[in-house]
Amino acid sequence: MQAACDCRGLNGCELSHARSCVPVDFVQNGGMKATVLTAVKTPLIIQQLSDLVAAPGQAVVRLKAAALNHRDLWTQLGLYPNIKLPVTLGSDGAGVVTAVGTDTDRSWVGREVIINPSLDWGPDPRAQGKDFRILGLPDNGTFAEQVSIPVANLAPKPAHLSWEQAAALPLTGLTAWRALFTRAQLKAGERVLVTGIGGGAALIAMQFAAAAGAAVWVTSSSPEKLARAETLGAAGGVNYRDADWAAALQKQAGGLFDVIVDSAGGPGFASLIELTRPGGRIVFFGATTGNPPGLDLRKSFFRQINILGTTMGSPADFAGMTRFVETHKIVPVVDRVLPLDQAETALRHMEAGAQFGKIGLQC
Ligand SMILES: NC(=O)c1ccc[n+]([C@@H]2O[C@H](COP(=O)([O-])OP(=O)(O)OC[C@H]3O[C@@H](n4cnc5c(N)ncnc54)[C@H](OP(=O)(O)O)[C@@H]3O)[C@@H](O)[C@H]2O)c1
Repeated sequence: MQAACDCRGLNGCELSHARSCVPVDFVQNGGMKATVLTAVKTPLIIQQLSDLVAAPGQAVVRLKAAALNHRDLWTQLGLYPNIKLPVTLGSDGAGVVTAVGTDTDRSWVGREVIINPSLDWGPDPRAQGKDFRILGLPDNGTFAEQVSIPVANLAPKPAHLSWEQAAALPLTGLTAWRALFTRAQLKAGERVLVTGIGGGAALIAMQFAAAAGAAVWVTSSSPEKLARAETLGAAGGVNYRDADWAAALQKQAGGLFDVIVDSAGGPGFASLIELTRPGGRIVFFGATTGNPPGLDLRKSFFRQINILGTTMGSPADFAGMTRFVETHKIVPVVDRVLPLDQAETALRHMEAGAQFGKIGLQC
């Protein structure tokens, strides 16, 4: 078996190409294929592992499709906290339940499902508890043919979505849902800005906000991505690489924003304060470009601006998100789908920032 890997562009890649393409730990009799991270800053390795067995309260899902999140890339690059190796990356997946560990869960067997990657959220809807984890680190994730998951984290696959579209939904859909509706309390008719629209989380946030009746503007590094966002319902947008982008956006949008959704952070965050209307909300869940170098606290408090952090979501958020997706027939945007063997190539595509929406894997 040959892994179709490509380590060009991997920051600090230390393995030779030949070594990176050799599958290890090969089990001759059956089993399942998984793409495994064995050391940070090295390419994923394809392994043939034993079939998974469902423990009590767990289900085994035969995955049809998985999808990438930036977290998978942060982990491979050694930039995620508490990395424990080896691990099968991947938080997003959709497939068919093949086994359960508890007899009373038998009705799940054979059902088409998506997976809520937010594990052990805990009892408080306001914030996750101490046992909270995200599927795909430390628990083995979805870049594999099978995954083991608590039955409580299964949900029916939305019928209007293909396997690849369904697999693209869970992590970013959950995060965007909680950001917009649980945290920012978005209302129809409000004006929203979503930054970095090429990203998977940003794009589904834009789709949700537009479906909820908001007017949505976007930013991107790419004129092509801005144009595509407009075809999906954005009212307009500007290139965040332009020196005067914030002023240009305010002019184009004819005013300030009620809600801003950001996952970039960094130097651009100061402009988001400028773009928020008095009493408005900035909700953020990422810091792709690092911490903001300086924040104008005086402007923030004098304008009564709410700066809201958010991460993933509770079981109630996931249920609310899937209901919303079914009701509005939202279809996550899938940039491309690669075979599972090419998970490494998919990660390099994400590292290049070339995608518009989610990058999928066919399992
Ligand atoms: N806390 C949570 O629960 C949670 C959940 C999901 C994601 N996240 C975080 O959110 C971020 C995005 O995740 P993702 O999976 O959507 O990643 P992704 O698909 O790789 O998207 C990253 C996007 O960031 C945008 N970007 C880069 N530099 C920017 C800048 N200076 N200003 C504005 N946008 C910029 C780019 O947009 P353009 O291509 O349009 O330029 C790029 O496509 C990551 O940091 C991730 O770790 C956190």
